[in-house]
Amino acid sequence: MSIKKAVIIAGGSGSRLSPITNQISKQLLPVYDKPMIYYPLSIVMLLKIRQIQIVTTAESNKFFKDLLGNGKKFGIKLTYKIQKKPRGIAHALKLCKKFINKENVCVILGDNIFYGQSLIENINNSIKLFSGATIFGYFMKNPNKYGVIKLNKKNNPHKIIEKPSKFISNYAIPGLYFFDQNLLKFAKYIKPSKRNELEIVDILNQYLKLKKLNLKIFGRGLAWLDTGNAENLLTASNFIRTIEERQGIKVACLEEISLNNNWVTKKFLKRNIKSYKNSTYYQYIKTLIK
Ligand code: TTP
Repeated sequence: MSIKKAVIIAGGSGSRLSPITNQISKQLLPVYDKPMIYYPLSIVMLLKIRQIQIVTTAESNKFFKDLLGNGKKFGIKLTYKIQKKPRGIAHALKLCKKFINKENVCVILGDNIFYGQSLIENINNSIKLFSGATIFGYFMKNPNKYGVIKLNKKNNPHKIIEKPSKFISNYAIPGLYFFDQNLLKFAKYIKPSKRNELEIVDILNQYLKLKKLNLKIFGRGLAWLDTGNAENLLTASNFIRTIEERQGIKVACLEEISLNNNWVTKKFLKRNIKSYKNSTYYQYIKTLIK
């Protein structure tokens, strides 16, 4: 499957982070030294996807645009879509119909952070030979806050349940999905759930029914962090700080990725990083372009 487009789902109410999120969107909050949205955006860029649509709330749309612009400074093309009410991830995807335009698409949640060796290689290998939809499983002690995959006796996916009330398996589904051109066809038929959202698991279960769902299990060397509550947000910040301090590298430095992808030149970056001014992020890019 070749993927040229990605959607980052960065709306939602962020209610578990209230009052922090009463005025500001969760995905603009800092995870250590950069806004949260940088992390999922970095994954998409590492996958060499350059056409990206970001779904935001109406109130925060302007701030995302101010921060990231049309993407030119990172050598990508960014567009934005407003989701007026948090009616679910599948609802957000339906809003991106024109952008997706019956093509394959990568979907990533704006509050998910992935970090680990060979991550991009693993993802690329997982989607290479598969049509349909690809999702990932992540072994967790307490997976029930997420979509969870029930496996059959042969360890193949049997059913996906959103936030199950009872234990069904240890495998949660991280917020990273790949879909073929049938995504919006399936999305058309789903109904709002009890919490009044159009659920992505209902789309995944349709792929599953047609034996078109590809599940890959992430190994234990991968860090998947979600930043939905205060505890997890702090954990994520501390995690990034630890890696960055110890290694002297930055995680999710968008300019570094675009430079490595040959999407921008050093000269171009030099002109475009002035807005970062005195930060360590700025210093880091300065050393890259020396
Ligand atoms: P959630 O963390 O499930 O929801 P939320 O961000 O609204 O937070 P809370 O549960 O604390 O109220 O959402 C996962 C991601 O999907 C997150 O990046 C927000 C995004 N999202 C949307 O863009 N639109 C939506 O309708 C929903 C439900 C979530």
